[in-house]
Amino acid sequence: MPQSESHASPSFDQVVARAVSRRTVLAGSASAALLSLFGCASTTGTGKGARPPSTKIGADANLMQFNPVTLREAATPNGRSWPLVSQDYEFDLILPWGDPINPTGPKFRWPPNAEDQAVQIGTGHDGMWFFPSSDSPNSKGVLAINHEFGSTATILGKSLPQSLEEVRVSQHAHGVSILNIERVDGRWKSVGGDNVRRVHVNTPVTFSGPAANHALLANRSDDVAKGTLNNCAFGHTPWGTYLTCEENWAFYFGTTRSGFSPTVEQQRYGLFGRSFYGWHNFDPRFNLQSEDYANESHRFGWIVEIDPNDANQVPVKHTALGRFGHEGATVAVGKDDRVVVYLGDDSGNEHIYKFVSSASYQKLLREGKSPLAHGQLYVAKFNEDQTGEWIPLSMDNPALAERFKDEAEIVTYVRIAAKIVGATPMDRPEWITIGPNGEAYCTLTNNSRRTVPNAANPMAPNTHGHIIRWTDSDQHIGLDFTWDIFLMARDTQNTEELFDSPDGLWADSEGRLFIETDGNQSDSDTSINNQLLVADTNTGEIRRLFTGVNDCEITGLAVTPDQRTMFVNIQHPGVSNFRPGEEGRIFPALGETTSVPRDCTVVLEKKDGGVVGS
Ligand code: FEO
Ligand code: CA
Ligand code: CA
Ligand code: CA
Repeated sequence: MPQSESHASPSFDQVVARAVSRRTVLAGSASAALLSLFGCASTTGTGKGARPPSTKIGADANLMQFNPVTLREAATPNGRSWPLVSQDYEFDLILPWGDPINPTGPKFRWPPNAEDQAVQIGTGHDGMWFFPSSDSPNSKGVLAINHEFGSTATILGKSLPQSLEEVRVSQHAHGVSILNIERVDGRWKSVGGDNVRRVHVNTPVTFSGPAANHALLANRSDDVAKGTLNNCAFGHTPWGTYLTCEENWAFYFGTTRSGFSPTVEQQRYGLFGRSFYGWHNFDPRFNLQSEDYANESHRFGWIVEIDPNDANQVPVKHTALGRFGHEGATVAVGKDDRVVVYLGDDSGNEHIYKFVSSASYQKLLREGKSPLAHGQLYVAKFNEDQTGEWIPLSMDNPALAERFKDEAEIVTYVRIAAKIVGATPMDRPEWITIGPNGEAYCTLTNNSRRTVPNAANPMAPNTHGHIIRWTDSDQHIGLDFTWDIFLMARDTQNTEELFDSPDGLWADSEGRLFIETDGNQSDSDTSINNQLLVADTNTGEIRRLFTGVNDCEITGLAVTPDQRTMFVNIQHPGVSNFRPGEEGRIFPALGETTSVPRDCTVVLEKKDGGVVGS
């Protein structure tokens, strides 16, 4: 029975109908009035000032003028084997897995060796951000790209690594690439430089916040903490650093002996010793039964800060932001210049969090303190009446003080803390973005595990996913919010707008919402590849801008400051419809010849030079 059904409450259907705003677009809702109260600066790019979405009419009909890729086009054999873009746009493919990060480095050979892979672009391109240069901001800058994962079959041509050297190849294909890119003779390319580097599973890292230097993070035989893993989505700070987010890291930890029985905490984090990657057979750091590395798994599941301009900076894992299956870390500047980080835990029935710094970020930086190390973590509770609250996760809460010894334990086992304080279980929170009026949008990609619906997650199970929207009080730092459901992907089934499993998300300053998908894009009679869509948040209209190739996910999104160039990523492109010698081409067919498909970055530009999405 739905949780909301009681004599005192409206019916569950009424709650859902009220919450879902698609095509009624906030008109007359409490949210609209609240949204109009302030326009907040966000580092994802704003500057248009306060304006409630519901007041945008007239000229806003022109927000999207491009001709969309139609369902019919996308479903053709050509649309399945090669990317398609709107006829008003063109695209280029750059930065494939295996290209050297500096042009003078080792060229791609398949399979790579570990030494080469450590200075080549990794696999599984995911979240990224473009840091523009000061002299030519729209044609030159640093591109930081996450490398979420890579199948051993693609990287090595075998199901599991058979030696430590092969483990190292796989490890070096994970992590982050810091690249310098530039538009040269009309094409974007990687140009190298002193700041260019790879951060991977064996790169030294350090920790900040409550769990730094705590026994929970100490191993017996390894003083130097190393590595970042399963780097999914991203964030970027007002002080110019990049945040990379560790998501499905638990799948890398295995066991070598029978009789492993996970602790309550390990179970809560999915540490059952079932590794998909086989690293633990040769690298004891990833063996849950290694006494020397007993706490290695506590060193993953964090937000990691990287300076894209300093190749010698040691990446910092910020424990104040909690340990879980991090999707992204969306940074906003709130009241009094406090830095606010919105965080999603992408696992069925997990939660949405936010971190608020203890003072203005400039003040903390002046004092030599990291704004991401001093502050409070909160978890979201969505009420049925479209209000919500942020619940602090601290020892000041008697229920948490009873379960945990100190703040370090809370942040390390924050999933357990969130359940204790009554946070709302969500349908796999993926990306979060901040719209032009300070409203946050979050993709809830789908949730096969949901059996009990709630107003914010009304489908059980949730097959297609949805996008939720909220606005915090007090310019991002308040502890209450109002929310509504921006759209249910279910409602696009059997329409020209068909899409499923929304994942990557970015709002521009004019009200366009870019939606990237990761799932089965099909209705009763059509099947297409994963795609990039643009929604007009004022009208609810959705147009299809781009579709990828067979088996791929479309993810990652970055723009130049003028928004005339957009970068998106094609992750795990497949081979299932490629027939050597036939028309299909091995994607992306760049550089060295190989029959192995390679993750890469797509450059999208409008033929008339306009803003991407217009
Ligand atoms: Fe790496 Fe939840 O996507
Ligand atoms: Ca994702
Ligand atoms: Ca996903
Ligand atoms: Ca992925």
